[in-house]
Amino acid sequence: MSFPKNFLWGGAIAAHQAEGAYLEDGKGIATCDVMHGGKGRIAEILDIKAIKANIENPLGYFPEHDAVDFYHHYKEDIALFAEMGFKTFRLSIAWARIFPNGDDAAPNEAGLAFYDSVFDECLKYGIEPLVTLSHWEMAINLTKKYNGWVSREVIPLFERYVRTVFARYKGKVKYWLTFNEINMTLHMPFMGSGMFVDDPAQKEAMCYQALHNQLVASALAVKACHELLPDAKIGCMVASLTAYPYDCRPEDTWEKMEMERKNYYLTDVQARGVYPSWVKNYLARKNITLNYGDFDEKTLRENTVDFVSFSYYSTSAVSTDPAIAGDKGTGNLFGGMKNPHLKSSEWGWQIDPLGLRIALNFLYDRYQKPLFIVENGLGAKDVVEANGEINDDYRIDYLREHIKAMKAAVEEDGVDLLGYTTWGCIDIISASTGEMSKRYGFIYIDRDDEGKGTLNRSRKKSFFWYKDVIATNGEKLS
Ligand code: BG6
Repeated sequence: MSFPKNFLWGGAIAAHQAEGAYLEDGKGIATCDVMHGGKGRIAEILDIKAIKANIENPLGYFPEHDAVDFYHHYKEDIALFAEMGFKTFRLSIAWARIFPNGDDAAPNEAGLAFYDSVFDECLKYGIEPLVTLSHWEMAINLTKKYNGWVSREVIPLFERYVRTVFARYKGKVKYWLTFNEINMTLHMPFMGSGMFVDDPAQKEAMCYQALHNQLVASALAVKACHELLPDAKIGCMVASLTAYPYDCRPEDTWEKMEMERKNYYLTDVQARGVYPSWVKNYLARKNITLNYGDFDEKTLRENTVDFVSFSYYSTSAVSTDPAIAGDKGTGNLFGGMKNPHLKSSEWGWQIDPLGLRIALNFLYDRYQKPLFIVENGLGAKDVVEANGEINDDYRIDYLREHIKAMKAAVEEDGVDLLGYTTWGCIDIISASTGEMSKRYGFIYIDRDDEGKGTLNRSRKKSFFWYKDVIATNGEKLS
């Protein structure tokens, strides 16, 4: 037993974190273009006054404007992926390149042509594009007009965009994902749904509504994919959450269950076609009434995904004991706390390879659908030695242990896994902090947190290691 012969090894990026060229060839300003960089970014996303001001009067540094200029370097970057032996490359389409305002009468041909060239370049090397339809960006016009996904008006606009790209890239793209980390809207409403929450008391109602609208849009994308691209497969994408009860008090296990349940209810709907009953009761208790369309139930029921994809970086612990519940891991948007048994990354994300095996088994038991790990990796500072080498052994260690855990889940536990794409295979802008110094890549990019640097690409030690991993289909990990 080992990884299947056609196992899809590769790497992943998102348009806004990599492309740059934020106004080129007719692209519209998108939500990601109005967020500053730096450690204060999360505070800005949660308290949206600064972002609102940036829309009217953009002052300061916006890292996504230029990012790592994948827009002009994609040929060189994809050649490097091919050199590593990638079987797949996950990227997203920037919706605002195709419909600059989200509601334009016709698509932007230059935007469509750009992705044609990117996919052609991948296919030239036998790399399957794995395409996310929505990765945390949308035209800012849709925020201004509709307050983003909280409004149902956005659903048909998204469906039109999706049908446009399906028709255009038919025959080129066989793997699609609907919404990146759909569950993150609960934690970051602006980033996940392009939505401003002015009254904190309304936050929950607005998030559940925006997410209902995304679920319907996701199901409509599945429907369109099955109609227009019968040979393609389409999946959902969730930020996985493995949470441990802090100790064996039953209350902690109940807390863990509630946290996980809340995390996966969206995937439950996308994979099974119905809301879990607890959600209905929960919303009723909170006096939240969702604005349902006439056909929503039928649309959700009839259009479930072909596979379930997820990101995995770390795990957290939960406790209801107030004495320890305050000890949160930093950078932890899920709200769990620090696990004393685990080490953390420089950004406070707790490192837990066995947690990946647990997540794989949990998700496979729950959905019985093929899985796809579409993000995993270590964000770390890299040092370029005087001779130009980047010896990122810490990254190799992290990935090796996670691949071992994944291997055990496939070989010993029988999990059906389609592939593995490491996050930020080329260094890109961090989503949570907007920093460049939080690097995940096998390929180093000369650019700093202020946007200075040559943008030159160079191979890190992990580049050669991952090349061997792929060449041996995961047999050689040392
Ligand atoms: C996931 C996102 O949450 O984590 C990516 O889908 C993101 O967009 C990745 O970049 C890593 O997070 P960060 O904040 O380290 O970039």
